Amino acid sequence: MRYPSGKTHLYAILAHPVAHVRAPEFMNPLIEKAGRDGFLVPFHILPEDIERFVPTLTAIRNLKGLVVTIPHKPAMRRLCAEVGDAGRLTGTVNTVRIEQDGRLVGDMFDGLGLVEGAKANGMDPRDRSVLIVGCGGAGRAIAFAVAQAGASRLVLANRTNARAETLADEVAAHFPELDVSSGSADGRGHDLIVQATSLGLHATDKLPMDPDTLEAGSNLFDIIAVRDTELMAEAQARGLSVVGGRPMIDHQVAAQIAFLDAPKLAGE
Ligand SMILES: NC(=O)c1ccc[n+]([C@@H]2O[C@H](COP(=O)([O-])OP(=O)(O)OC[C@H]3O[C@@H](n4cnc5c(N)ncnc54)[C@H](OP(=O)(O)O)[C@@H]3O)[C@@H](O)[C@H]2O)c1
Repeated sequence: MRYPSGKTHLYAILAHPVAHVRAPEFMNPLIEKAGRDGFLVPFHILPEDIERFVPTLTAIRNLKGLVVTIPHKPAMRRLCAEVGDAGRLTGTVNTVRIEQDGRLVGDMFDGLGLVEGAKANGMDPRDRSVLIVGCGGAGRAIAFAVAQAGASRLVLANRTNARAETLADEVAAHFPELDVSSGSADGRGHDLIVQATSLGLHATDKLPMDPDTLEAGSNLFDIIAVRDTELMAEAQARGLSVVGGRPMIDHQVAAQIAFLDAPKLAGE
C-alpha cells in the first residue's frame, strides 16, 4: 500500500454515519492504478455542521477535493460555486474539486456510473424503454442520466408514489421529448429494469418487484453492489441478462478520479 506524502493531493469523503463507508477501499487502489498521487480519507461530519465546516476546509492547502455521501449531497450542491450538468439537474453533488483559489466545483456521478456500467454490459439505454424501481437519491440521479443518455421511454416506480410522481414531473420538465411517467414496478414491456431501492442489501429483504413481470430477453441492472440479490437470481432464472452494482461503482470512480485530477505519480 502507498502512503500519502507532502506532495499528495488529499481528498475527504464526508459522511454520516461514516463507519460503513467503503469509498477509500475502492478509490485509493484505483487512484494509484490511474498513476495519480491522490489519497482519500473518511471524515465523519454531522448534517448540522456541514455548511459551516466545508468553507473552512479550503484553508488546508493540500486538501484538493471532497466526496460526499448520504445525507450531504443536496447541501454540498448549495455550497459549490460551480456545478456540472448532472449536479444541476439532480440538485445534488457527490464529488467536489477544490480549485487553487478555494472555489468549490462539483458534480454528481451516480447516474453516469449507472449509464456507463450499463453500456459496458450491453445494456445501453439509448432508444430503449427503461423502468427504474426506486426513486431515492440514487434512483433520482439515474433517472436524469438515463434521460440524458437518450432512453425513449422512462417509467419511475417507488414505494412512496408521490416521490416517483414528483421526479417524473421534474424529468419531463428537462426532457420534454421523453415519454416519462410514474407507474408500478412491473417489468413487462421494458428493455432495461434498474433496481435502485435499498432492498436486497440483506438476504431477508423482500423483493422490490414481482419477478413474474420480468420478461426473458430483457435486462436487469441491480445497483446493490455488496452482494448478488435475490431479484438478480429470479431474473437470471427467467432468462434476463443481469448485472449487479459493482460496474456502477467502477465507472463512477473512474470518472470521479478524472474530475479530481490529482497530479501524475513520479515516473508515470
Ligand atoms: N452501485 C452503486 O454505485 C450505488 C450507488 C448509490 C447507491 N447504491 C445502493 O442503492 C441503494 C439506494 O441508495 P439511495 O441513495 O437511493 O438511498 P435512499 O435515498 O435512502 O433511497 C432508498 C430507496 O429505497 C426504497 N426503499 C427502502 N426501503 C424499502 C422497502 N422496504 N420497500 C420498498 N422500497 C424501499 C425507498 O423508497 P421510499 O421513497 O418509499 O422510502 C427509496 O426509493 C443503497 O442501498 C445503496 O446500496 C449503489
